[in-house]
Amino acid sequence: MAYSEARVIAGGLAHIPIIIGIFWFINSYFNKRRNNFEKVNKPAKQKPISNSKVKVAEKPSIKKVENKVNEVKKVENKVNEVKKVENKVNEVKPKLNSSPPLSSEIETVSPNRKENTKIDQKTLNKMKHADVPVNTYRPKTPFTGTVKENYSLLKEGAIGRVNHITFDLSGGDPFLNYVEGQSIGIMAEGEDSNGKPHKLRLYSIASTRHGDNFEGNTVSLCVRQLQYEKDGQTINGVCSTYLCDIKPGDKVKITGPVGKEMLLPDDEEANIVMLATGTGIAPMRAYLRRMFEPSEREKNNWNFRGKAWLFMGAPKSANLLYEEDLQRYLVKYPDNFKYTKAISREQQNSKGGRMYIQDRVTESANELFNMIEDEKTHIYLCGLKGMEPGIDEAMTKAAQEKGLNWAELRPQLRKAGRWHVETY
Ligand code: FAD
Ligand code: A2P
Repeated sequence: MAYSEARVIAGGLAHIPIIIGIFWFINSYFNKRRNNFEKVNKPAKQKPISNSKVKVAEKPSIKKVENKVNEVKKVENKVNEVKKVENKVNEVKPKLNSSPPLSSEIETVSPNRKENTKIDQKTLNKMKHADVPVNTYRPKTPFTGTVKENYSLLKEGAIGRVNHITFDLSGGDPFLNYVEGQSIGIMAEGEDSNGKPHKLRLYSIASTRHGDNFEGNTVSLCVRQLQYEKDGQTINGVCSTYLCDIKPGDKVKITGPVGKEMLLPDDEEANIVMLATGTGIAPMRAYLRRMFEPSEREKNNWNFRGKAWLFMGAPKSANLLYEEDLQRYLVKYPDNFKYTKAISREQQNSKGGRMYIQDRVTESANELFNMIEDEKTHIYLCGLKGMEPGIDEAMTKAAQEKGLNWAELRPQLRKAGRWHVETY
């Protein structure tokens, strides 16, 4: 063996421990990783669990589930609340667009609100039938009218006090124009218990735009004095007492006009169903004058040819308001005017209780719903707020008899601008 060959072999042998070392290093590295991996994934050794501990261990998880369920329920409730609010908003939306603001709202209204309010096209179209003035006079700068007339509308033996009051609007700049179905605000003289001027109260206008004298310079109201007993004392309403007591020549602060909820349709062939209790007849009196009062018809250029049906609720015959005028209209327009009375303390309903207008609605269900099915028919409700549930119930029954669902029909009528309500 040559020297050089011996060197090569010796060199090769010298590498063997190095190669063995490398293999050992790699092997031990992978063993270490495997051990670590097993350690991490091995289930922890569990101590034996006693029964009592099982209960303790289970309780929190059930509670957690219960809590989760409760949370979900809470969220569901919130969602339902939001839905309710949405429904309310949808119900109120058309009212907001059309109903008169409450006296408190009028007080806080900014002078620019009307100008800044964007009115959607639908509402605008609906309003088009009448050029309706609103808030010509506001509480900070009311118009001062002069009392022309103030007389009782009641007969001997009637309950309470109800007056017809007329104000002269002459000299107003701008003139306080109004149309049938609107209201005005009255600010009673004097101060409230906080030493502040009395807030205004709203009253439905009982005259047509031409006024009772047909000269177009007056406005009339029909006012019941509010009276109730408290702690053995008789309390008189502030503004209604002020109005029933004022005398011709007295000066009165007037605001408005307000309201677009109770306007009459332009259509001369429309049918008008009126449901009124007490002073709720005020706007109806204006409608009926517009329809049937000869001098008014001459003036207004509105040749009403539809059917008008008044349901009137009063406690006694002596409390019936504007009765002579209504009887005149019945004689002159028998085909166009129908008048149904509910005299609560003189007549009885089928159950032996007080006769209310809703009982009369039930009695007339078929004829009334034949009219309502005609899309030319509008229904107006005015007077005591308390009558609304009774009217709803009566309409539900009446609708059922015709196979109709009042809960569905009423919103449709409202949407179509055919269901008009002003109760207080
Ligand atoms: P207030 O002195 O204001 O007293 C009323 C307050 O007395 C109530 O808010 C209540 O707190 C309390 N009260 C009332 N009754 C009782 C009771 N039985 N027990 C205990 N507390 C009680 N009225 C008409 O007469 N004719 C109308 O044409 C007319 N149209 C209206 C139109 C609209 C759009 C509205 C909103 C209201 C209308 N009103 C009408 C009602 C009118 O606005 C007044 O609310 C009413 O005259 C009473 O005002 P007041 O200042 O005399 O009574
Ligand atoms: P009553 O007072 O006999 O119970 P006025 O405003 O002149 O008092 O008239 C209101 C009329 O409305 C009265 O005949 C009154 O009857 C009646 N009325 C009272 N409550 C209701 C009601 N919930 N639904 C319908 N009519 C009612």
